[in-house]
Amino acid sequence: MDRRRRPDGEDGLVAARGATGHGYATEAVRALSDLAFDFGVERVEAHMDPDNAPSRALAERAGFVLQEVRQDMHDRPDGVRRPGCVYALLSGLVRVN
Ligand SMILES: CC(C)(COP(=O)(O)OP(=O)(O)OC[C@H]1O[C@@H](n2cnc3c(N)ncnc32)[C@H](O)[C@@H]1OP(=O)(O)O)[C@@H](O)C(=O)NCCC(=O)NCCS
Repeated sequence: MDRRRRPDGEDGLVAARGATGHGYATEAVRALSDLAFDFGVERVEAHMDPDNAPSRALAERAGFVLQEVRQDMHDRPDGVRRPGCVYALLSGLVRVN
């Protein structure tokens, strides 16, 4: 992330086959958000489809709090418009989980 060029950055997360169910993704998300805070980022967001239960559970395990469900967050490749959840974790706050 180059904060001189863009004030925000984006990343994605997919667990390797056989690597789910051990807490590795939770550990990775916590480490990445701590790194972002160390670089001066004040707010880290996690976005996902409301039906993506593993991703929502991951965000909540990592201490993110649901802010809103947007009605028209993204367009799928087939053109269907889908809602999306916005979770956030703020710098300087104690994680709730
Ligand atoms: C989202 C995704 C990365 C989450 O993976 P995950 O394995 O559920 O998450 P974790 O690695 O944090 O593992 C959590 C599980 O390990 C368990 N666990 C074991 N030890 C743990 C520990 N020390 N800490 C936390 N959880 C632990 C948890 O109880 C949980 O189990 P459960 O699912 O039965 O409740 C995975 O579902 C995925 O790759 N999905 C497809 C891609 C995707 O949707 N990406 C997000 C797009 S927005």
